[in-house]
Amino acid sequence: MNNFIELKNLSKNYTTTKKLSVLNNVNYKFKKGKIYSLVGPSGSGKSTLLNILSLIDRPTNGNLIINNKKVNFNESKINDKIRSNFFGIIYQEKNLLNDFTALENISLAAIANGKNLNESIKLSNKLLLKLKLKNRSNHFPSQLSGGENQRIAIARALINSPNIIIADEPSGNLDYKNAKEFFKLLFNIKSKEKIIIYATHNRYFANLADCRLQLINGKLKSINGRNK
Ligand SMILES: Nc1ncnc2c1ncn2[C@@H]1O[C@H](COP(=O)(O)OP(=O)(O)OP(=O)(O)O)[C@@H](O)[C@H]1O
Ligand SMILES: [Mg+2]
Repeated sequence: MNNFIELKNLSKNYTTTKKLSVLNNVNYKFKKGKIYSLVGPSGSGKSTLLNILSLIDRPTNGNLIINNKKVNFNESKINDKIRSNFFGIIYQEKNLLNDFTALENISLAAIANGKNLNESIKLSNKLLLKLKLKNRSNHFPSQLSGGENQRIAIARALINSPNIIIADEPSGNLDYKNAKEFFKLLFNIKSKEKIIIYATHNRYFANLADCRLQLINGKLKSINGRNK
């Protein structure tokens, strides 16, 4: 019961001119209450794995089990609902909707999850304040710096207090001070109920996690061995 997300014999291949095996028979159990970092060389499959975990992409073989339920990747409506209810996702790039302001981008995630407009705006403003972006709430993504865009994406990912947070190089666009702030925020929301998984190329930030994972040659390895 303790295992909230399980990967079972999970593989992912891409076929272009020839077959590329990115994830090769991966088995792993992510447990509630823990923060996981994911490292690995560029192209090792970190984003691929995170996209499967957040039901955006599907594996070629094997299963993803969330809360003891096998995910059916053909049920896109159900999976959209699962994603909206349980997941907060920060993508590696292109996080925001270009035609909506910062405030709207954040609020939409709450509205999509069933909150009313006023409540959604109130919550968004609170997060904007926390992320020191209150004075950018009416800016469109093209009127924000890369780092500001990323912080708006962070606010959007956190607005529904998700139990699973997936962040793909969340600090990639942030300067060191903002990256540290981001991780402080992330570690502050750690709780018994949450699973937090982030990919990073930064060794310092990777080392902050409870469990450090490495993707190499299609295999997922635990590098500190605390979560075997
Ligand atoms: N849609 C696709 N079709 C074919 N190959 C793909 C596709 N998406 C990704 N790949 C390939 O799969 C491999 C893994 O990509 P992925 O984006 O998961 O790597 P990553 O570990 O996130 O890299 P980075 O650190 O640069 O973000 C790469 O070699 C990439 O070229
Ligand atoms: Mg990536």
